Formats: sequence, C-alpha cells, structure tokens
Amino acid sequence: MEREKIYGKTKLVSGADSNGIKECAKHLVSGEVVAFPTETVYGLGANAFDAGAVEKIFAAKGRPSDNPLICHIGDKALIKDIVSEITPLAQKLIDAFMPGPVTVIMKKSDKIPAEVTAGLDTVGVRMPSDPVANEFLKACNVPVAAPSANLSGTPSPTNARAVMEDMDGYVYAVIDGGDSVFGLESTVVDATGEKPVILRPGAITKADIEACASGEAAFAGTLEAGQTPKAPGMKYRHYAPFANVEIMDMPKGAVLIGDEADDAAPSEVKKPDFDSMSEDDRQALVDIASPFIHREKELLKANPFARVGIFAGVEVKALYEKLGDKILLAHTEFYEYGNALDVRSAAHSLFEGLRHLDCQEVDTILAQGLNGGGMATAYMNRLEKAAGKKGELLPGMPKPERPSRGELPLEAFKDTFTAQILFADDDNTCLSQACEAIMTGLIEKNAPYDMLVSRDIGCELYCESAGITASDGAVCDEGIIKAVSEETGRNISHCRSTRADPALYDASDIIITVRDEHAFEIIKAFPQIKDKVFSLSTFAASCGLVFKDANGRLVSVSIPDPRGENEATYSHTVKALKAWLELLFPYLIKAVGAERA
Ligand code: TXA
Ligand code: MG
Repeated sequence: MEREKIYGKTKLVSGADSNGIKECAKHLVSGEVVAFPTETVYGLGANAFDAGAVEKIFAAKGRPSDNPLICHIGDKALIKDIVSEITPLAQKLIDAFMPGPVTVIMKKSDKIPAEVTAGLDTVGVRMPSDPVANEFLKACNVPVAAPSANLSGTPSPTNARAVMEDMDGYVYAVIDGGDSVFGLESTVVDATGEKPVILRPGAITKADIEACASGEAAFAGTLEAGQTPKAPGMKYRHYAPFANVEIMDMPKGAVLIGDEADDAAPSEVKKPDFDSMSEDDRQALVDIASPFIHREKELLKANPFARVGIFAGVEVKALYEKLGDKILLAHTEFYEYGNALDVRSAAHSLFEGLRHLDCQEVDTILAQGLNGGGMATAYMNRLEKAAGKKGELLPGMPKPERPSRGELPLEAFKDTFTAQILFADDDNTCLSQACEAIMTGLIEKNAPYDMLVSRDIGCELYCESAGITASDGAVCDEGIIKAVSEETGRNISHCRSTRADPALYDASDIIITVRDEHAFEIIKAFPQIKDKVFSLSTFAASCGLVFKDANGRLVSVSIPDPRGENEATYSHTVKALKAWLELLFPYLIKAVGAERA
C-alpha cells in the first residue's frame, strides 16, 4: 500500500481544549481522519458511515484493507445504527463492561459499509471510558471506525507522541489525552452466539466475562475443528519493534501482582534494598534477574558489538548494577516498568517500552515473560507476537524501520541538565574539529535526550573541541574544511581553535582524544580526571568493543593526521571518523548519563 503524506503537518490538539476537540469532531464527520486517545491504546478514527473516509485510515496505516475495524461510540444509543441484532449475551456484556476496554462483536447493520468490516457480516462495537475519548466521540455523534493508530506491524501507540511518530503528515489531527491507562488493546468478544468467544485477550479477563455471562467462555484458539478463526488479520506481523524480541521466563512459583485486579492502578514501586533483604527475598531477586544476565552474556559472547534492551522490573536493573560488570552495563539499555511481577505495569508500558528501546539502537530486546490467567494472558499474547516478528509481512506493508522519535518540547521535562563531550587533539585545527562537526550532527539527528537516572529529566547535549598545544583563534586546515563539508554537509570554515585548559576539562563530562598519546598526556597532567579521559581506542575497549585482525590480534583505532596528504586521504579520514563516532554514539551518550528520550 502506497503511503502518501497528505498534510504539511498534522495538528496536535490538547485533550483539555474543548473547542479543539469539537473542531476535530467536525472534521471527522466531514471525512477527515483524526487520532484520539482511549484507555487501551490510541485509535485512528474516521466516520464509519463514510466508506471514502474509512479508506483513508488504511492508506495512513499502510494496512491491508482485509482487516475489520471497530466502531467506537460515545453514546450507547448509537448501537442500534451499527448492528442488526443484539443477542442477550451481547446485551449483558454491553451493560457490564461499557464504557470500558471491551469490544463486542455483533451482526452488522446495512448502514455500516463493507469497508469497515472487511466484508464480514459482523461488526465490533466499543465504547471507551477515557474521558477525552468520550468527549470527542460524543461530539462526533456518528460511529467512529478506528484501528490502533500505529503504522501497520509496529507496536500500538499509547501516547500522542508515538502516534505523531507514525502518523505526522498522514492524518488531519491527533488529540493528546496523555498516557493510555491500560496500554493494551481491548478484549474482543464474539457475542453473536450463546457462548462468548474471546478473539483477543485484554484487560477484561476471561473470568470477568464468565462471571457476566454466567457460563463458560472460549478463546478463539480453542474453537472446535472446522470452524474458521473469527479474528482476521491476526496472522500478520504485529506489535513488532525493529529489534528482535526474546521472552525471559518468570521464575516458577512466583506470584503475579494485579493479574485479576479490575483497576489499572500499578503497585507502589519498591527498589530492592540488598542490605536489609532476607535470604529468601535475595534468592527471589536472583531468580528473576538471572535469565536476563545469562542470556545477555551469551549474546555478547557471540557478538561483542551486540546492544541489548531490557524490558523488565526495577529488580532486574538493580541486580545488574549490584553485579557492576562495566562491559555488560555499557551494552545494556533498560526500560523499567515497575515491580517485576506487576502485570498491570508491564502491560501499561509494553508498547512504549519497545518503542523506547528501539530508539536506543539495541539489536535484541529481552522482555519479562509473565504467566497468569487474567491480564497476563493479554500481555503475553502481545509479547509473543512482538517476539514472533518473522510473521508474515504483507506485500506492500511498510518495511520495518527503526523509529525516529518526534520532537519533544523541553517543557515536557520537570528539569533539564546539560552534558558535554569534548574532543581533544594537539592544535585543534584538523581532526578534533572534524570530530566536533560529526558529533554535533549526530546529536542533532538523535535529539531529544533525557537523563538515565530519570526519564522526567531532560538532557541537552553539547559537543566542543580543543587542542592541548593549540593557540587560540587559528583557522581550520583547508583540506579538512572541504572533506567535512563533503562528508557531513557541515561548514566548519568559521570554527577557530581553542586551547584546552582545566576549566574546559572541568566543564566536560567526557574527554575523547583521537590519538592514544593525547589521552595519556592529559591524564598525566591531570590525574584526578582520569576516569573521564579516553582515546577513541581506550573508550571502545572500555565498552568491550574490541577489534581483531585476521590473526586474532587486537587492533587499536588509528586515524593518521591527513595534513600534507591528498584530497582522497582527507576524505578517507573523515569517513573513518564518522564511522567510529556513529558506532560509539550510543555508548558515548550513555557514558555522560544520557539516553534518547
Ligand atoms: O482497544 C482497542 O480495541 C483499540 C482502540 C483504538 O479502541 N483498537 C484496536 O483496533 O485495537 P485494531 O484494528 O488494531 O484491532 C481490532 C481487532 C482486530 O484483531 C480485528 O481483527 C478484530 O478486532 N475485529 C474487528 N472487527 C471484527 C469482526 N467483525 N469480527 C472479528 N474480529 C474483528
Ligand atoms: Mg492494531
């Protein structure tokens, strides 16, 4: 499916702006596509009575149109326009769970075009409980056909920023209602018969449905032989981040928190305190964290350049830190969702966690598996699909790509710190200036950043260069100006040399020299800052990034000074520096305490 940008910029409307919401409703009724928040995930809505508008959803999602959409309502009075029959079972489910995270499948009415239901004679109806969704859907006053607001195949969006990432320019507006409470899509229940059939597990659990229906419910997977599965589209690639996902088993006998709870409130997060811990608690912690540590060590053994994302509870990171293996930590990016066994928190953060870890350039995500019968069924259903990313990619479906995070206003953070990377060489007119230009480009391309200690604190990254023996104010070498401009598009002709001095070292969070001897020189003169001074080689080695030649001998990074050589040598030099800095970038920002926000 060809994806075509049809708007210069998608409008971002605050969920507190009632006029903005009314305006969005008006545009939706007259045929535009609007993304809106719900308590499960964000939806991409269009007027369900308007086949042309519904087709725009498929174009924006890059989704095959053989997957049926759910009709969303703000008022139960609309149900009679959507369906032709409400079975007694359907009525019970509507009364018990609407508004809430459930979709009830019923026989469709003639008013709903085939485009909405992909030609099926049934239709899903859902009434979200999210207050912004409710206000918006009431204002629309037509059924709103909506799938989750992600690009087909990627994790569903649970905040407006994730929607913008996938949809900016493809839809009319996004209404920002904050984080989705549940974070997983609604429970889909087929209520066309006497017995409820769960087509997709969600926050309304099998036990909830059985209690409401006063009888047994089945999962679609357990249908009797010969019956066709009723949730089309389930065979395609789903929820998959760019990285590979592997599921780490939870310890046998461990007990989940919140599996059958009916509120979405996460449990209070408790960082483990190793000193005051009982022997049993310590063992429980080791049991949770060791599958991650063990698996990551295997991955690093197979590939010393592996980058690993961990989607887990606070306990897992605490144990990694307790272990204190510097190389292991350099290769690891954490997304902590709360207490390891709190399935509500894990579900709430799953999709955002996968997106976040993808941005940290990890190749593999190790995610906490959770076994249970309630919310855990829904969580594992999504996680297993994310892990099974080899699943079908339909012809025309967009190729998986590492997400590029949209901009985030600095006011999004409670506080903002700064961090500085300094490149040093001798006279600061050639290699260190090239490093500064390349690094500044990388910083701009990957912005924004937050601090590893807390995602609530933003980080502004800066890069400088200086020379140990430089005189202030010298212009850059002509050859390097030309090569930097050609390889990076940046103009450094206005840059002037700066002499490195203790004040500059002090203001820098990490100091990187191109040549080993310059790092040694700085450390010799200022031994008290030795922990933040590296050459490209020693920094790479400190992260466990080792290079071997054909004979298995370690090779160090050597980038000779190109001055006095020809143009081709300059161009090779800048290319080599660029390759190095791109490789080291995620490790460098981590070393100064930052990550991509
Ligand atoms: O929580 C949710 O349900 C979110 C929010 C936006 O409401 N929506 C959502 O939509 O997840 P979507 O399109 O990503 O997933 C809808 C699921 C699909 O698995 C689809 O096959 C199934 O519901 N479905 C929809 N209509 C159906 C029908 N008539 N019969 C069987 N399955 C249906
Ligand atoms: Mg979806």
